[in-house]
Amino acid sequence: MKDRIITTQFTEPDVEIEGSLRPESLDEYIGQEKVKKQMRIFIQAAKNREESLDHVLLYGPPGLGKTTLAGIIANEMGTRIRITSGPAIEKPGDLASVLTSLKAGDVLFIDEIHRMQRAVEEVLYPAMEDFVLDIIIGKGPGAKSIRLDLPRFTLVGATTRAGLLSAPLRDRFGVVQRLELYTNDELAEIVKRSARLLNIALDDAGAEELAMRSRGTPRIANRLLKRVRDYAEIEGKGTIDLKTAKVALTLFEVDAKGLDDIDRLMLRTIVEKFDGGPVGVDTLAAAIGEERGTIEEMYEPYLMQLGYLARTPRGRVITAGGYRHLGLEPAVSENQMAMETLETKETEE
Ligand SMILES: Nc1ncnc2c1ncn2[C@@H]1O[C@H](COP(=O)(O)OP(=O)(O)O)[C@@H](O)[C@H]1O
Ligand SMILES: [Mg+2]
Repeated sequence: MKDRIITTQFTEPDVEIEGSLRPESLDEYIGQEKVKKQMRIFIQAAKNREESLDHVLLYGPPGLGKTTLAGIIANEMGTRIRITSGPAIEKPGDLASVLTSLKAGDVLFIDEIHRMQRAVEEVLYPAMEDFVLDIIIGKGPGAKSIRLDLPRFTLVGATTRAGLLSAPLRDRFGVVQRLELYTNDELAEIVKRSARLLNIALDDAGAEELAMRSRGTPRIANRLLKRVRDYAEIEGKGTIDLKTAKVALTLFEVDAKGLDDIDRLMLRTIVEKFDGGPVGVDTLAAAIGEERGTIEEMYEPYLMQLGYLARTPRGRVITAGGYRHLGLEPAVSENQMAMETLETKETEE
């Protein structure tokens, strides 16, 4: 896959950017009002009762602030955080040693929790539910199982694919929060905050332009801010205003809505090869040489938020807005007409 400036994936240059920009309290965390309101209540209630917080599952597309929120939960609870990830825990024993090192109230953050091995997951069930760890000592007929008590910790799990989580694991989270793509106003606020922290001159119109092209994603907003700053310093007057933002982002091939050539290729493929759809996601993935998961996780959420793409039971369909974004006349394809006829028939039956 070609490097995309608008990838939601965490890239090497993000390490430096994100370290300094991560909000550390709920007050600093912009947007996600519903999630913040609920988390404030749950955190305050747990603190009042002097109990650990219920286990929390955070899900949503990459770059929306799951890792950040996990850190904030620990800060607000006044506890420590241990950070690991599903793929990093290779054996049940690895998880056992993490669990036994926890102190009461600690937050254990497991990123990409949908990628945890089955055998590891099974160790997690009794730990989450009853705060115990069952370990087997010895082998064969002489083996015995002993049960260790664990401190009452809070598991915070993060996943981009909630659908891939097994039901028994999902059911053990007392709190499940879905993060949404951010609005342009929220993103403008985020880049203004980042510009302040990084000492970057950015005016309101420049911030709005960056926001509009950031695909609802703070990680992208911060990355675009840094790249446009470079441009402003070399080619402009050092300040990011509307014109500088527009020219720089166009140069980086991020269009007015934040789409790049891969998004446009995907939309165009649906129009040209599949008559506007519906086309199954696997077929579409093969046609543009991407993986299905990448399409579902990284391209689609934003294209659907813009209303350019729709998911139907029969596959993906490009909308009138999608056609217009490509500079094409919205067309009602034969496929879609056939589909509508079919649906009418179905409802009549
Ligand atoms: N609500 C927010 N307010 C301000 N900045 C945010 C917010 N959410 C995320 N960010 C910024 O975006 C970056 C990516 O967030 P992160 O928590 O790593 O996303 P995820 O774990 O969901 O992929 C963070 O470093 C932070 O600077
Ligand atoms: Mg993360």
